[in-house]
Amino acid sequence: MSDYKYSIEAKNVNKTFLQKNQEVKALIDFSITIKRGVIHGLLGPNGAGKSTFINVLGGLVKKNSGQVSICGIDIDKNTKLSKFKIGIVPQELNIDPFFSPAELLELQAGLYGVPKRKRKTDEILENLKLTDQRNAYARTLSGGMRRRLLIGKALVHDPEIIILDEPTAGVDIDIRTSVWDYIKRISKQGKTVCLTTHYLEEAENLCDNISIINHGKKIIEGSKNDLLNIISTKTVSFVLEGKKLIPNQLNDYKPVLANNILKLSYDKNKTNIKNIIDILIANQIGFSEINTSEGDLEDVFIKVIKDK
Ligand SMILES: Nc1ncnc2c1ncn2[C@@H]1O[C@H](COP(=O)(O)OP(=O)(O)OP(=O)(O)O)[C@@H](O)[C@H]1O
Ligand SMILES: [Mg+2]
Repeated sequence: MSDYKYSIEAKNVNKTFLQKNQEVKALIDFSITIKRGVIHGLLGPNGAGKSTFINVLGGLVKKNSGQVSICGIDIDKNTKLSKFKIGIVPQELNIDPFFSPAELLELQAGLYGVPKRKRKTDEILENLKLTDQRNAYARTLSGGMRRRLLIGKALVHDPEIIILDEPTAGVDIDIRTSVWDYIKRISKQGKTVCLTTHYLEEAENLCDNISIINHGKKIIEGSKNDLLNIISTKTVSFVLEGKKLIPNQLNDYKPVLANNILKLSYDKNKTNIKNIIDILIANQIGFSEINTSEGDLEDVFIKVIKDK
């Protein structure tokens, strides 16, 4: 295996589009490092620049400036080789309607120069649960089947990196779970995966590392756990029994009382839940249940997007 540190490394990439004679800055000094073997999530609102970056990687969009390397190969110096290292599953479901899944995979393998004996058409179809549709016209496939076929198309040349732009947009929960399982399997085989998603639950479930992008700029990048730690506010709620006067000592915890449930928020780095329970006990406030909840990726996303 060749020696390189990052599967993808981009430095100060800029891309400006012209829309009706107006300049649209899709990427501004955009830098990112995607480690080998991880599942890396690119998150950001609509129009943030995620697909533009992916299209730069795939050679579909020409950047104005900056450097990008894929598996240590500069995409400007060795475009062809760098393209062999990645398989991209595009955001749009653009499939030629008159070919069957098997034909499309064979065609794609041919485009990449994969010799017939090395092709894995049936294996890919089987893994993606498309064996029954092997010879059907692509136009008869459902949205979820098309999405899976596009994943298959990105895999025919056995690339080291798989990039999925919104892999589960518009698919039902069953298919979503099976796509997640498949992505995890690809990752376990040692491949690097990069995906964009608007489902923060998806990123939380799948990704090791995450970059959040807004208005063409990277706002934050780190491991999922580091990002989750940005939100230090925890909420605790008590189901109260009897007495309902809230003591002043709880004012710092923004108390809200509704239907017997007392909700408090506190900074997990500063306060231990025991401090709160001690206050309740000292004031003879009885409770029958305690529930706590931590901030999730959605809270992180909203916070960092708002702060910028
Ligand atoms: N081919 C193009 N021509 C002109 N403008 C473009 C083109 N592609 C993208 N843009 C613009 O660049 C910006 C970034 O778009 P991009 O598709 O990269 O966003 P995105 O983060 O993928 O959004 P989404 O979550 O909606 O897919 C947007 O303002 C978009 O209008
Ligand atoms: Mg996009």
